[in-house]
Amino acid sequence: MAIGTVGVVGCGLMGSGIVEIAAKAGLAVRVAEVSDDLLRKGRGMVEKSLARAIEKGKLDAAGRDAILARVRWTTRLADLSDADLVVEAIVENMAEKQKLFRTLDEVCPPHAIFSSNTSSLPVGDMAAATKRPERFVGLHFFNPVPVMRLVEVVRTLETTDAVFAEACAFGERLGKTVVRTKDTPGFVVNLLLVPYLLDAIRALEKGIATAEDIDTGMKLGCGHPMGPLELLDFVGLDTTLYIADIMFHEFKDIRYQAPPMLRRLVASGRNGRKAGRGFYDYRKA
Ligand code: 3HC
Repeated sequence: MAIGTVGVVGCGLMGSGIVEIAAKAGLAVRVAEVSDDLLRKGRGMVEKSLARAIEKGKLDAAGRDAILARVRWTTRLADLSDADLVVEAIVENMAEKQKLFRTLDEVCPPHAIFSSNTSSLPVGDMAAATKRPERFVGLHFFNPVPVMRLVEVVRTLETTDAVFAEACAFGERLGKTVVRTKDTPGFVVNLLLVPYLLDAIRALEKGIATAEDIDTGMKLGCGHPMGPLELLDFVGLDTTLYIADIMFHEFKDIRYQAPPMLRRLVASGRNGRKAGRGFYDYRKA
């Protein structure tokens, strides 16, 4: 089956990046959001990212216009009726996701592949809410989506070989390197990344070094583009806490147990860059 039209549901940070790379890859894209306001915000994010590419001389105005012309923006899920593949990138809430997929199951053609960009929820539980669990995968992208070269393709107990192969080919068509993984909390990357990020907070809590020195240590000592605390601010402290709690609930392994400092920061609204404050203060920048 040739994938020509892609539906993206949810146009936040991750969804807008997925829209951009799918349209760049020459695919027709239908983007659904729950309100015109959120659609406008999502479109703004795509335009900002394309403007950045123009600034860097990687794209011209005609290229940008061609990319945007491939995207149709909508608040009606019924407009995804011609999608060959749908990527869900809505809020990380199982009940909301299952409700969405039940509706998509009615709206989308029987051949359409469904996928979720979830970072920690079981993909199989979403698939089970549909009548097409064998045509369901996880497609886990990384932030910022247009820059990060990886997509994890997640296979549930029910995914068929053919659908899994198509999903992997789709990830490659979007310009990503594919890592194949089982449907287990955190897949590959978050399974390893989350304990590392939580350990960095524990090191700060214990007063082993300053935030700056912990970050410098990992940047210069290990060649990481960002230190762990800087990365936590970038990903969002609330998002990380949410993922850690899901993984701890699943594994009961103390490596995934959120340190008190993370809970306190989230409780006081210091959720990282997007909030202006996290481990660092971005308000003066
Ligand atoms: N959108 C589009 N392009 C962007 C971008 C964005 N939001 N942010 C940066 N870029 C591009 C820039 O245009 C630039 O392109 P160029 O190299 O062709 O000129 C390139 O990325 C580098 O950007 P900058 O020079 O402005 O800044 P940096 O060199 O500091 O790089 C970074 C920024 C790419 C974000 C880098 O710091 C990085 O790789 N950080 C680590 C990010 C990471 O680990 N992400 C994964 C998080 S975990 C996750 O997402 C999983 C989830 O489940 C939690």
